[in-house]
Amino acid sequence: MNDVTSSIGRDRLARLMRRGTDFLGCEVAVMGGAMSWISERNLVSALSNAGAFGVIACGAMTPDLLETEIAETKRRTSKPFGVNLITMHPALSELIDVCARHQVGHVVLAGGLPPAGSIDRIKGNGAKLICFAPALALAKKLVRSGVDALVIEGMEAGGHIGPVSTSVLAQEILPPLAQEVPIFVAGGIGHGGLIAGYLEMGAAGVQLGTRFVCAHECIAHPNFKKAFIRASARDAITSVQIDPRLPVIPVRALKNREMESFAAKQREVAQLLDEEKVEMAEAQLQIEHYWAGALRRAVIEGDVETGSVMAGQSVGMVREEAGVAEILAQLTNEAAHALERRSV
Ligand SMILES: Cc1cc2nc3c(=O)[nH]c(=O)nc-3n(C[C@H](O)[C@H](O)[C@H](O)COP(=O)(O)O)c2cc1C
Repeated sequence: MNDVTSSIGRDRLARLMRRGTDFLGCEVAVMGGAMSWISERNLVSALSNAGAFGVIACGAMTPDLLETEIAETKRRTSKPFGVNLITMHPALSELIDVCARHQVGHVVLAGGLPPAGSIDRIKGNGAKLICFAPALALAKKLVRSGVDALVIEGMEAGGHIGPVSTSVLAQEILPPLAQEVPIFVAGGIGHGGLIAGYLEMGAAGVQLGTRFVCAHECIAHPNFKKAFIRASARDAITSVQIDPRLPVIPVRALKNREMESFAAKQREVAQLLDEEKVEMAEAQLQIEHYWAGALRRAVIEGDVETGSVMAGQSVGMVREEAGVAEILAQLTNEAAHALERRSV
């Protein structure tokens, strides 16, 4: 941690983060939220090497690709990092095996409740399991099922989102559950002062995605990073569900032509449902593949008009490219300053 702030604030920050840092095995209880195509070997190892906790986004990767990504990340860092798996991935079981073979210490399950057996398998392999909890009742259920930690992510976040804001989730879930398992708060965090606030409410740490996209170490295309630097909070809008029969999880991304073509994609898939050419699960998988492809076009190819530029509302606080260590130092300094001010 950088020493611009006096030791009072930094000591308080370290104390408030201790539960999170002990759980993750890192120095700063900041998880780099997994971002498909973005959270790969370079960004993940940079985050872990800087003292935070990088998480590989498996996204739509095959087991072979995940295997390579884990191995390559290990070549770049000896520090702990995690792997994020999407519950609806058709090869989830094999992906869990890959994590076990590589003795991944922390698995994050995203995209819905963990399927039967997955909790026991992941924990049985010796990994700590972190799940997303979108509401208090589900958070309690996950804790009862044995998950080791929770991420509560509000609708300010980039990517797939739930309907409730981070501040409301934090107020509903932290007071009753923060003593039971470590809870990491995500969504809309761009300034360290807010990190201090959530820690004081009982969070073990935080998870940020948007804020790390413009890191030098992030492989996102320069056009993708430029779009982030130009955007303000209000440009990060949510996708709209066109057909009531086809429930799609909303996605927050920068407003562009792609956000309009998503409507056409939904109509196309709804028609396949009508004609009974696909089942609901397959229809939803098609939507997810659509997003994975659209995000790849923007992140990797730099097509920020017809690709998806997923971004959270904190995008307005991303003003320049900087190194991961610098971004982290800024956040921790801001948090320490806030704690110091509150202690006088
Ligand atoms: C471009 C992008 C891609 C994302 N992809 C994933 C993903 O594949 N899996 C996942 O669990 N979360 C994903 N997220 C959410 C992040 O992991 C993280 O929780 C979120 O970015 C936190 O909110 P913030 O964007 O306000 O910092 C993504 C977010 C962004 C911005």
